[in-house]
Amino acid sequence: MVTTFPSSHKVDLSRIRLAIRSLQPQLVEWRRQLHQKPELGFEEKITAEFIQNKLQEWGIEHETGIAETGIVAIIKGTKLGTEKVLAIRADMDALPIQEQNEVPYKSQHDGIMHACGHDGHTAIALGTAYYLQQHRDSFAGTVKMFFQPAEESPGGAKPMIEAGVLKKPDVDGIIGLHLWNNLPVGSVGIRSGALMAAVECFDCTILGKGGHGAMPHQTVDSIVVGAQIINALQTIVARNVDPLESAVVTVGEFHAGTKRNVIADTARLSGTVRYFNPAYKGFFMERVEQTIAGICQSQGASYDFNYWSHYPPVINHPEMTELVRSQAQDVVETPMGIVPECQTMGGEDMSFFLEEVPGCYFFLGSANPAEDLAYPHHHPRFDFDETALAMGVEIFVRCVEKFCN
Ligand code: NI
Repeated sequence: MVTTFPSSHKVDLSRIRLAIRSLQPQLVEWRRQLHQKPELGFEEKITAEFIQNKLQEWGIEHETGIAETGIVAIIKGTKLGTEKVLAIRADMDALPIQEQNEVPYKSQHDGIMHACGHDGHTAIALGTAYYLQQHRDSFAGTVKMFFQPAEESPGGAKPMIEAGVLKKPDVDGIIGLHLWNNLPVGSVGIRSGALMAAVECFDCTILGKGGHGAMPHQTVDSIVVGAQIINALQTIVARNVDPLESAVVTVGEFHAGTKRNVIADTARLSGTVRYFNPAYKGFFMERVEQTIAGICQSQGASYDFNYWSHYPPVINHPEMTELVRSQAQDVVETPMGIVPECQTMGGEDMSFFLEEVPGCYFFLGSANPAEDLAYPHHHPRFDFDETALAMGVEIFVRCVEKFCN
């Protein structure tokens, strides 16, 4: 595991960088401790206690038990200047995956793993809090650190907002990052506008009429109806969405039948819809149901249908994006550096915060294929280059000084 900076890292021994570089061993230690104790959404008790202990030790004002296991820490700058409030958000939850990495810091929780890097996000946020508390004279205004539960599922951002974390003091801007193995360590992917997609989901049960496989005329074959529906759903993006826009309709589950000579009376299918443009809100719900209804009607079947929005698209504010981009520019320096127009159809509940206050979410490159640290997120062998941790802290700290001063 690499814990030093790549040799290509620019020798910029500025005040912030020197101090943050010295934090790198701690960042790695915290991340590895968190990695060994992964917890699922709204069950982040050990994680929250870990964070709480650190904040207490450093004398940082904080509130726990927000949206179950969430924590808000408040650090007030002592420099004269603005009274602006910047929030920094980090998610804390892990995934129901059995880790296949053989590393000393391997998950100790059977069937649960930090396979998305949220352990790193928490370590970066802790490092940022520690640094800011030690250097309160370097910024004006206030920084609120959000340690958020349940990003993966079912979503902790919305309940945190409902618990009032954006108020008292009112947050003027918010930033957050995701370690990103789709980009090499040392780079930052960023984009003004849509960075990540809206995530919508649907379940459908086709209600046909069962019978003998040799006598289909006595039945309504839910498998045949389902097959037509699945094909027709693929025409929504192809024929109804503006070709200059991006969208995805995926049916990820199709369950029906028990025996080869029995016509299944019901079939169940489930899928996900993704798109960037908020103008499509409501559109897919209507088109998916119209498609299902039309085919069921033509075949004499009926259906149960459930469609819901999981997360809205992650939309970055232009000025906040420029703030992060300008600060990240000084921190990244591989040939790739800043990767503009970075986008993914993945979703994130950071979107709820960004709907409330201007902000920017960005990707912090974390892949290092030479060290075998390039498995995709949510893979049982996911791991990342930990040199990204100090870079994350440095970008956050620079943004604080730029935004609040
Ligand atoms: Ni994630």
